[in-house]
Amino acid sequence: MRIDIITCLPKLLESPFSHSILQRAQDKGLVEVVVHDLRAWATNKQKQLDDYAYGGGAGMVMMIEPIDLCISELKSQRDYDEVIYMTPDGERLNQGVANQLSLKKNIIILCGHYKGVDERVREAFITREMSIGDYVLSGGELAAAVLSDAIIRLIPGVLSDETSALTDSFQDNLLAPPVYTRPAEYKGMKVPEVLLSGHQQKIEDWRTQQSIERTRQRRPDLLDE
Ligand code: ADE
Repeated sequence: MRIDIITCLPKLLESPFSHSILQRAQDKGLVEVVVHDLRAWATNKQKQLDDYAYGGGAGMVMMIEPIDLCISELKSQRDYDEVIYMTPDGERLNQGVANQLSLKKNIIILCGHYKGVDERVREAFITREMSIGDYVLSGGELAAAVLSDAIIRLIPGVLSDETSALTDSFQDNLLAPPVYTRPAEYKGMKVPEVLLSGHQQKIEDWRTQQSIERTRQRRPDLLDE
């Protein structure tokens, strides 16, 4: 899989892809993440990417031309399954969407800034608009990193324990059960006896029951879906 991220703040995206699972996924060749500095496609001398909003009002709007040039260049090099725009008024990201996107071959993620992008960018180039939640970030970069992380860890071979994404919260619309490690007792706080029993069927049953109970208490909305 290849993910091309278009941004006017490329530095903001260096660290999220340079550690741990996401770095290892790239080292293993399971995913290629390419961050593009939109300023390279700026057309005027000042390398300007945004301009005042027609009709007035606070906040600058990202101009269509540099985005058009950048996306067109990428599209001339390969076919893309999706061109995603990160925006708080997009479709809410969830595990189901991450699962779907992890099956794609090439995707572009456009990060918005200022008051957003000229509406014509959305009409002409964007195939999917994603929000990571009902709050407003300073820009789409952190949202793009969140989306990419959620996708990349689902690509087969990325997680060392192949089954571990399957037991994540949300994979079956249930929250994950509690987990414990050594010591078996800490300052009087004990690990549930069943987990020390070695009885695998009982442990699985306990985990399932804990998942259901947790979901009922914390996220009953998931049980209705
Ligand atoms: N850009 C700013 N806020 C955002 C959000 N909540 N989700 C996606 N992109 C954003």
